[in-house]
Amino acid sequence: MIKGVIFDLDGVLLFTDKYHYKAWKSLADKLRIPFDEKVNDRLRGVSRMESLNIVLSYSDQTFSETEKEVMAAEKNALYREYLQKMTPSDVSDDTRAVLEGLRRRGLKLAIGSSSKNTPLILEKTGIAKYFHAVSDGNNITHSKPDPEVFLKAAEYLNLQPCECIVVEDAEAGIDAGNAGGFLTVGIGCAAQYEKTDHPIKSLSELIDFVQKQ
Ligand code: BG6
Ligand code: MG
Repeated sequence: MIKGVIFDLDGVLLFTDKYHYKAWKSLADKLRIPFDEKVNDRLRGVSRMESLNIVLSYSDQTFSETEKEVMAAEKNALYREYLQKMTPSDVSDDTRAVLEGLRRRGLKLAIGSSSKNTPLILEKTGIAKYFHAVSDGNNITHSKPDPEVFLKAAEYLNLQPCECIVVEDAEAGIDAGNAGGFLTVGIGCAAQYEKTDHPIKSLSELIDFVQKQ
């Protein structure tokens, strides 16, 4: 029986994946590295430094660790400029209805995100009130596809992985969910991924799906 739902944040609950794209694109353009939506899809779910390494893998140049630290900080500063402008109106009515509907049905809800910017995003959009627990880039040592972030989320909810659904837009996130023993639901990019247990087109399909389990 499903008792909890663990949501990825960027690209699932909010469209912050677009801001990640814009910030990486700006850095890549400056370095004259080709970067498009397809490359960006490879960054979904993976940590900031791993994302940077993927971006730089399209360059002929090699960069020192210090140079990489500077680049990651520059990308993050630009990304946070976009986040600072977010407000509660950036949360769609659909997303609110699903979160409220799941809570009304007694489900425990958690965030499971690789992002260290999760606290800022929650503060700006005011959605923290919907969640019983938050597991993010600040409390893990291994990023997705490692299951750590979801295992911690389940632990914070006092639930077993087999009692929780993981909702993801990233292939790395689906791999993480599967590795942790969770039922995986894929939206966006992850809806086309063959390892996703259950693809959905919109979050509103979640309530029915949870009730059928
Ligand atoms: C994930 C995003 O949620 O967080 C990745 O899907 C991102 O694209 C990762 O690299 C880390 O984010 P942040 O905010 O800590 O740089
Ligand atoms: Mg995501």
